[in-house]
Amino acid sequence: MQPSTSQKLDSQLVNLRAEYDKTQIQEILDELNQELIGLIPVKNRIQEIAALLLVDRLRKNLNLFSGSPGLHMSFTGSPGTGKTTVAMKMADILHRLGYIRKGHLLTVTRDDLVGQYIGHTAPKTKEVLKQATGGVLFIDEAYYLYKADNERDYGAEAIEILLQVMENQRDDLVVIFAGYKNKMDQFYASNPGLSSRVANHVNFPDYTPKELLEIAKIMLSEQQYKLETEANEILYNYITKRMQQPHFANARSIRNALDRARMRQANRIFSNDKTMLTKGDLVTIKVDDILKSRLFIM
Ligand SMILES: Nc1ncnc2c1ncn2[C@@H]1O[C@H](COP(=O)(O)OP(=O)(O)O)[C@@H](O)[C@H]1O
Ligand SMILES: [Mg+2]
Repeated sequence: MQPSTSQKLDSQLVNLRAEYDKTQIQEILDELNQELIGLIPVKNRIQEIAALLLVDRLRKNLNLFSGSPGLHMSFTGSPGTGKTTVAMKMADILHRLGYIRKGHLLTVTRDDLVGQYIGHTAPKTKEVLKQATGGVLFIDEAYYLYKADNERDYGAEAIEILLQVMENQRDDLVVIFAGYKNKMDQFYASNPGLSSRVANHVNFPDYTPKELLEIAKIMLSEQQYKLETEANEILYNYITKRMQQPHFANARSIRNALDRARMRQANRIFSNDKTMLTKGDLVTIKVDDILKSRLFIM
């Protein structure tokens, strides 16, 4: 008698936990959770994608049909919301799962792919693709590749080549398109061929002022600095003011503000008459180091 289908399906076992441990992706997911404040929806999406890819690998091991899940991704969000940082982690995950051989991240923009003159674009794009092979190609502000008002723009040529490689070489190169959400939506709408090859969409929300304060504290402690207690509130006020200013770039603006606060701290210590300094003096960012920002003077 033929065994029933379900018996057949159950006869081969695969140890999910062992396979998962083997890939050591939990380590990266833990890093992601610890190093990055907030971003809960992003962290959940990355975990989902990792789970899907792992299950696909297990299916392949049992010779089950593998749809080769689409690996190419879209990371949307304002500047400084963590897209590049998460993309590096994603490259690591893809590498550990065996989808890419090297696991590096190559960040490019339009100018790296598109030439100024006829005949320059194809070699430029191909060279970038060669360098990215085995890793992740991160195309920042990807919508600049496509200029709707110019039919003869060389960007279209770069997109054509990208498309071919995304389709054929899908086993050893992953492309992540990144940029502002609304502009990326328009870009996909004008490039349906490309859009259909991007399977995973991850949106990075802007941070709240509270999250930005937490991010500031993480950044300071990474550099072995700390805020004196009274400086917390001042930094929070700084953040809410900075958010109203032009060119605000979420966590990146915070990093820049902290660089300046450290400079003021050094200046303050230096111009102080005190010659003997404690460790405390050297690590503490004080109220004044933040209040002297031009944001409070304006
Ligand atoms: N959630 C977060 N927690 C801690 N630091 C963050 C967070 N998001 C971004 N950063 C830091 O802010 C800076 C800008 O992030 P980045 O990944 O370059 O943003 P994007 O690529 O979206 O412009 C980096 O130094 C990064 O480490
Ligand atoms: Mg970036």
